[in-house]
Amino acid sequence: MRAPRFAAIGGAGWLGGALVRAALDTGVIAAETTVVTSRSLRREGFDAYAGLTVTADNAAAARDADIVLLTVRPQDLAGMDLNLSGKLVMSVMALVPMAELHRRFLADRIIRAMPNAAAANGLSYSPFLVSAGASEEDSAFAQAFLSASGIAERINSEAELDYLTGLTGSGPAFFAMFAAAMQRNAVAHGLPADRARRAISQLVKGAALELAGAPSMQELVDVFLDYDGTTAAGIRAAEANNLDAVVHAMLSAAAKKAAEGI
Ligand SMILES: NC(=O)c1ccc[n+]([C@@H]2O[C@H](COP(=O)([O-])OP(=O)(O)OC[C@H]3O[C@@H](n4cnc5c(N)ncnc54)[C@H](OP(=O)(O)O)[C@@H]3O)[C@@H](O)[C@H]2O)c1
Repeated sequence: MRAPRFAAIGGAGWLGGALVRAALDTGVIAAETTVVTSRSLRREGFDAYAGLTVTADNAAAARDADIVLLTVRPQDLAGMDLNLSGKLVMSVMALVPMAELHRRFLADRIIRAMPNAAAANGLSYSPFLVSAGASEEDSAFAQAFLSASGIAERINSEAELDYLTGLTGSGPAFFAMFAAAMQRNAVAHGLPADRARRAISQLVKGAALELAGAPSMQELVDVFLDYDGTTAAGIRAAEANNLDAVVHAMLSAAAKKAAEGI
């Protein structure tokens, strides 16, 4: 099958770069038929892909493409007037709903996806929504493109996508925040910062694997509670300080922002 002509608008950035490289590495797209755009002509991370084009000309890149990935920051959309009618448009931008993509880019075949920063390590969770005008073939392309950098799941509601924008789109930052709070506590207890960092990094990796293999998340917590030792003391302190309320406030605020749009 011929590789699609693919344009990634803003594709040299953090998320776009990770998604495009993963798709190139797995053969979902090909370097010779891929164009990445960037105002500053950034090529970082693309030197290994002979034949790939980097340009600042969004209009030309989009015009010559079958599939256009939109991966600029939402605030950089202002003034971006591209006519993408007839093309498959994939957006990974937070805060820009399906109706706005349709209105602004005159597009009917739209995929709205929400990967996260873990795409750089092939570990994103990437839900995606398919517009009424997109085909099953379009959906299959999105599934393959996003699966190159993690797990991709088609979903059916934009409200769910907005919620997931906060939960998993922003999620790596929330775990980073928890880890940073642990590090501050460790340092306050006299640990050197570098030892605290190594300890917490290994802890997060190990805990993630443990959790993935557990029958359920709460059951794993309950197993530790049953020991009634050090771990249980920590868990009870978190409960007494209403960790659930903090998590609820954090995720509700993120989802609200996602639903409000730009
Ligand atoms: N990072 C994440 O974890 C994450 C997670 C979920 C969703 N997202 C979404 O992904 C999108 C990109 O985020 P990011 O973190 O990857 O941002 P980023 O690193 O700033 O990447 C955006 C890229 O867009 C380019 N750009 C901006 N305006 C442009 C224009 N007019 N024409 C061509 N290129 C342009 C920038 O390069 P130049 O300055 O060189 O133009 C930059 O490399 C955002 O909409 C965000 O909501 C990100």
